[in-house]
Amino acid sequence: MEKREELYRGKAKSVYKTDDADRLILLFRNDTSAFDGKRIEQLDRKGMVNNKFNAFIMQKLEAAGIPTQFDKLLADNEVLVKKLDMIPVECVVRNYAAGSLVKRLGVEEGMKLNPYTFELFLKDDAKGDPFINESHVVAFGWGTAEQLVRMKELSLKVNDVLSKLFDDAGLLLVDFKLEFGVFSDGSIVLGDEFSPDGCRLWDKDTKKKMDKDRFRQGLGDVIEAYEEVAQRLGVPL
Ligand code: TMP
Ligand code: ASP
Repeated sequence: MEKREELYRGKAKSVYKTDDADRLILLFRNDTSAFDGKRIEQLDRKGMVNNKFNAFIMQKLEAAGIPTQFDKLLADNEVLVKKLDMIPVECVVRNYAAGSLVKRLGVEEGMKLNPYTFELFLKDDAKGDPFINESHVVAFGWGTAEQLVRMKELSLKVNDVLSKLFDDAGLLLVDFKLEFGVFSDGSIVLGDEFSPDGCRLWDKDTKKKMDKDRFRQGLGDVIEAYEEVAQRLGVPL
């Protein structure tokens, strides 16, 4: 597999072409961003930790029958993935109230949501990733109604699999964000990454925050918390 030119540089990852038209390389950088890229800092080891964390989770999801972009780990900071045509919509599943839900509705942080909630956001930093609904996705052509049905079905399946996985490690999966894309065969596939950057994880007993909220809220020991989560799950770092 030969790495070719950079195709796209995101806030935390860079995407490279390869000599295979159906494969890309993702490079996980140490850049850590919050507030739609208004705050970016370098955190030692973050690229490596998130790359390995993501590989571990994606393989668990594949084993549970969820199609993912993951192909194979190439290096500490690099992974080979299927090339997807990304749908610019973020799917957020919440099991407990936190973050923008608390701000929007004024509910108490940590309130159990029964059942879970499923929300959509437009992936557009310049617009502040606005809250949208399914009719917007279809009307503006970001995705079809059929694709949305599949994205929701897969998001809820991810929630089932990962809530159990994290629970067994003494962690509450509070909420998480997923992004999907269309593979060359037309199927919907889970893309982007799953790491403590894109979800909320609290220690089950102490409710200590173990995810990117440590960075957003200036709580310190960000990567130490990511590493503890990885160690509890058995992710080889
Ligand atoms: P929110 O509470 O800010 O809406 O975030 C919900 C979940 O989605 C949380 O786990 C963080 C994640 N998320 C991202 O990964 N990227 C984003 O751009 C946003 C807005 C949220
Ligand atoms: N990932 C987004 C950003 O960089 C939002 C966040 O995680 O807070 O700004």
